[in-house]
Parts: sequence; C-alpha cells; structure tokens
Amino acid sequence: MNVNTEEVKKVVKGRYGKAAERGGGKGCCCATEVSSSLNFATEHGLYGQEELSLVPEIARNLSRGCGNPTGFADLQSGEVVVDLGCGAGIDVILAARKVGPSGKVVGVDFAPQMIERAKQAVVEAGLSNSVEFVVADMEQLNLPDSLADVVTSNCVINLSPDKDAVYRQAFRILKPGGRLAISDIVLTEKIEPHVQARLQSTWSGCLGGTIAEESYFDIISKAGFRQVKIVASHALASQELDEMVCCPGPEFTPAPAKEDLAVVQGKVVSIKFTALKPQIS
Ligand SMILES: C[S@@+](CC[C@H](N)C(=O)[O-])C[C@H]1O[C@@H](n2cnc3c(N)ncnc32)[C@H](O)[C@@H]1O
Repeated sequence: MNVNTEEVKKVVKGRYGKAAERGGGKGCCCATEVSSSLNFATEHGLYGQEELSLVPEIARNLSRGCGNPTGFADLQSGEVVVDLGCGAGIDVILAARKVGPSGKVVGVDFAPQMIERAKQAVVEAGLSNSVEFVVADMEQLNLPDSLADVVTSNCVINLSPDKDAVYRQAFRILKPGGRLAISDIVLTEKIEPHVQARLQSTWSGCLGGTIAEESYFDIISKAGFRQVKIVASHALASQELDEMVCCPGPEFTPAPAKEDLAVVQGKVVSIKFTALKPQIS
C-alpha cells in the first residue's frame, strides 16, 4: 500500500493519545464526549459481565478492541504474555488475572497517554507486581528474544502500515512453542487501490489500514508461524462500519465517498485466531 507510514503512525498515535486524555467516549478514535455510562466493551458485548467486573472503569471505558484475546489464548498460571497495542489495559488486566502472581504481562503501546491510563487501571486492580508497560512502536520492539509464551493483540495490527514487521517482532519475542492469540480486522477480499487510497482517512478507525485476509495470513506464515486456527469471525454490521468512519481526519484526503463504503460493506470482518511458533524454526 502506498502510504506515508510515518505520517500514518503520527496521526494514529495522536488520535489514540487524545482519546486517552479524554478518558472515554464513543468510537475508535473520535471520542467527542466523556460519560461514565458509556462503556465500549459492554456495548459491543465482547466481554462477559464477570470479566468486566475485574476491570477498573477507566480501562473499560477506553476499551477499543474487536475481540477478547484472553478468552481464547488458553493462558496458564506462570506464563509470560505480551499485549501489543494494549491501550488502557483491559486485556493486560484480564491476562494478569489468568497467569497469576508467578506470571508476567507486558503491555506495549506507542501512545504514552494510553500507557498512563493503563498504569492507573493496573494499580486500581492491584496487579502492579505482575504487569509492566513499555511505550514503544510494535513494529520496532526493544524486548528480548524468546521472552513470551503468548503474544496477544486486540484490534491493533490493522493500524500498522508495516504488518510484516509486527509479525516478525511477535515471532522474535515468542519462545519456541509460543503462541499468538489475536483479534483483528481484515477484508474478505482485496479492494481496488483507488478505493483503498480513499479509505486512508479512516485509518485510525481501523478501516484504512485493513488488508485482505489472504494477504494478512501470508504475512503471518512468512514471519514463521504455523498452525493458524481461526477461532471465530463475523462481518461487521453497518452500524459498526459507521463507527469506524466516524472521524475522517483532514490529515489524509480525499475522504471516502459513500460508494467507497458501499464497496466494503459486508467485506469487513472481525477475526479471532491463534497460531504457533514452531519448537524448531
Ligand atoms: C483500537 S485501539 C485497541 C486498544 C486495546 N487493544 C483495546 O482492546 O482496548 C489501538 C491501540 O493500538 C495502539 N497502537 C496503534 N499502532 C501502534 C503501534 N505501531 N505500536 C504500538 N501501539 C500502537 C494505539 O495507540 C491504541 O492504543
């Protein structure tokens, strides 16, 4: 995709940083109001009530995922988990509960304001001893090789202009035999480059950077992962699509036309999958 990757990342980081400062609100990126009654995670039914009761309000209100990776990661006591694009920490907190005090969870996000919110939530949840945070770009992680048993990520990798780099990093930081548990957004098929170009203004809303499922899984396999298993997938409803394009920014123009959205309607899919780093690669 022909994009100015640094510019894209600057805009995405700025948008999510601002959302974190506001502390909540509707939509992936364009929180216009803060209300304690607004709870993205609950509204979208991604998590069970019992799980949500374990998560402080700030992390619930800033939850911007499209799945629930700790729900299918099969986390075990004592495991090390890295959550890429942790946002305000909802999945970090749920993972920390599952791996227990003998395990560790590292939350990575490049928006420092998100990390501040996540730290606050982790303190409130009483989990500071088993959680660390790193402000970093997931495309260039400064984490050791073979650190993690599991890499999770929830609705983040679509935002990366260099998904190959992200999956290479995930592979590097996983132990041999380690696994991915990912929720993300893909397209069921490739769309024409001129339509994709116009959708760039919806990048922060998790649409502009979304690529075809086939290309996405090629990237994962090129990085070295095997045994990809799709746990669940569903096409997003038109209301969800509307939320994704709710804040086309002036940064990338032209804005998508109605016809462009009609082209992707029904083809934007939320997927949940696992994959393995082989014992011997
Ligand atoms: C849609 S939100 C999801 C947040 C969180 N996973 C959740 O489920 O609530 C995307 C998050 O990814 C972060 N992000 C996007 N691109 C990133 C990158 N290249 N490196 C690190 N974090 C990134 C954003 O700052 C934002 O917090």
